[in-house]
Amino acid sequence: MCGIVGYIGHREAYPIILKGLKRLEYRGYDSAGIALFDGNDIKLCKTKGKVDDLEKKITKEISTTGSLGIGHTRWATHGVPNDVNSHPHYSNSGNLVIIHNGIIENYEPLKKELLKRGYKFTSDTDTEVLVNLIEDIKDNENIKLGKAVQIALNQVVGAYAIAVFDKNKPNEIVVARLGSPLAIGIGDDEFFIASDASPFIEYTNNAIYLEDEEMAIVRRHKEVNIRKIKDDSLVNPYVQELQINLEQIEKGGYDHFMLKEIYEQPHAIKDTYRGRLLTDKAIIKMAGIEDNMKKFLNANRIVVVACGTSWHAGLVSEYIFEDLARIPVEVEYASEFRYRNPVITENDVVIAISQSGETADTLAAIKLAKSKGAFVFGVCNVVGSSIARETDAGAYTHAGPEIGVASTKAFTTQITVLTLIALRLARAKGTISSSDYRHHLLELEMIPDKVAKALKSDEKVKEIANIYKDAKNFLYLGRGYNFPVALEGALKLKEISYIHAEGYPAAEMKHGPIALIDENMPIVVIATKKGHYDKIVSNIQEIKSRKGIIIGIVTKGDTMVKALADHVIEVPETMESLSPLVTTIPLQLLSYHIAVMLNKNVDQPRNLAKSVTVE
Ligand code: AGP
Ligand code: GLU
Repeated sequence: MCGIVGYIGHREAYPIILKGLKRLEYRGYDSAGIALFDGNDIKLCKTKGKVDDLEKKITKEISTTGSLGIGHTRWATHGVPNDVNSHPHYSNSGNLVIIHNGIIENYEPLKKELLKRGYKFTSDTDTEVLVNLIEDIKDNENIKLGKAVQIALNQVVGAYAIAVFDKNKPNEIVVARLGSPLAIGIGDDEFFIASDASPFIEYTNNAIYLEDEEMAIVRRHKEVNIRKIKDDSLVNPYVQELQINLEQIEKGGYDHFMLKEIYEQPHAIKDTYRGRLLTDKAIIKMAGIEDNMKKFLNANRIVVVACGTSWHAGLVSEYIFEDLARIPVEVEYASEFRYRNPVITENDVVIAISQSGETADTLAAIKLAKSKGAFVFGVCNVVGSSIARETDAGAYTHAGPEIGVASTKAFTTQITVLTLIALRLARAKGTISSSDYRHHLLELEMIPDKVAKALKSDEKVKEIANIYKDAKNFLYLGRGYNFPVALEGALKLKEISYIHAEGYPAAEMKHGPIALIDENMPIVVIATKKGHYDKIVSNIQEIKSRKGIIIGIVTKGDTMVKALADHVIEVPETMESLSPLVTTIPLQLLSYHIAVMLNKNVDQPRNLAKSVTVE
């Protein structure tokens, strides 16, 4: 979590860092701070709250000149979000200043030791321990900053991306990573440091992504020097050319990133299958699958590991893989999987799904699966992310940057990729007839248009949102392929409007949740024509007999549910296996409108962060 930005070069660092922090604010927004070197000394300003709060405060407190600086937007792990715990943190002498993303797990014994040696701490953070540990080593051994950072990091247990500089050596920033992302933008005689490339995309397309256990010394007018933290060996920098552009990371006229991303879905889904879904030739082409076809065909089972919305996409894929490709699937919360002793062998294929590609639990689950010999396939959105690099093979979703903390287009594009994989495997295994296969391909190709039509329900959804925005609880029900959609609808509402919501398989309702139903309970029921329709109509009748309020997501032209429900939202008809791609749209819009009406911060909901790089 948290965003870090740094700059060293020939421009004023402050505006670059400030803008960069705004772009990275999706990663954490408990506090913000900047430290600049003004030619003589470090100037530091930090505050609880958003980057906007920092911007209001900073010019009143410090001069913002200087061509070297670092900035941070925090997602607190150690110590409440207040001014003092905000980053950057000084070392005791005031010579060093640090920003940190992650957790120093062994900070307590390190702190005890430093306290004994006379160090004082003003904050409750683990980060302040690290900067003083670096200082202690540097002063005691009389060595350079880079070396001291390296020795300190070898004593540290946990996860970090850090940037630190010394006011007595103001021509370099030392950075390092383990478990949290860190990119170095290579400009023309200038360098940018950031958690992802968005802060520097308008200045350069060239970036180095540090690998875990690597550190770099970024010096003015010099090449970047990268070394392994453990053994000090030199690493040859690999400079990547970035594909994203500025437009993709701006709001483009929408009030919120979330709404922009909801509306981008027709396009995003097309981008996901472009070049892979070749309907005219009736083939699916995915290099990551073709190259590893044997692994998939010989797999005893597929184990999906993921968190949150990505886990919901995994649940949808369980239906698709089992239904079409007849491969047994288990879907696991990465956080549970990694701490069990799961039975995984080299005959298992593990699919890790992650929008950010940086989720710590998913990354750890991948490492565990690999250590047990499994073949691990990644489904990620962020190109070059840690998970994309850690997996044996993979397929990108190509959804474009997702900035809103509540995941929307990542979900539908993940389902699209997983559907393509399932169809390809089904064809290779012969578990699908050629006519059924072609039918699926044609239907999948039409999904972007159908999603665009589903988006037309926006006004209707807004009216419904207005009626129920003050409800204290919501239930979401679905069956089969649409059960995970119910879970996802409930998650969206919880995340951004803070209304309690639960998703359930519709038939499971009578085993408990039915007791919750009264005339105040809105219940969103996904009741599209294909798949368990009659059963779901019966479930709706059961709810109506208990006076619950039904908001039905129905197939266009439906009459049966319409006659029973309080409201219906129509979506275009498609195959049952593809229906999650359209039924999820009104649920995203419903949570969005309720959150806006309740004046909640849609793109940056409280307590959350886009990329969860702590476990
Ligand atoms: C989705 O709306 C959430 N913010 C969250 O559940 C998210 O899906 C989860 O943290 C996993 O993230 P990832 O896809 O980047 O791994
Ligand atoms: N552990 C540090 C803190 O609590 C950094 C958290 C972050 O990644 O923002 O301040």
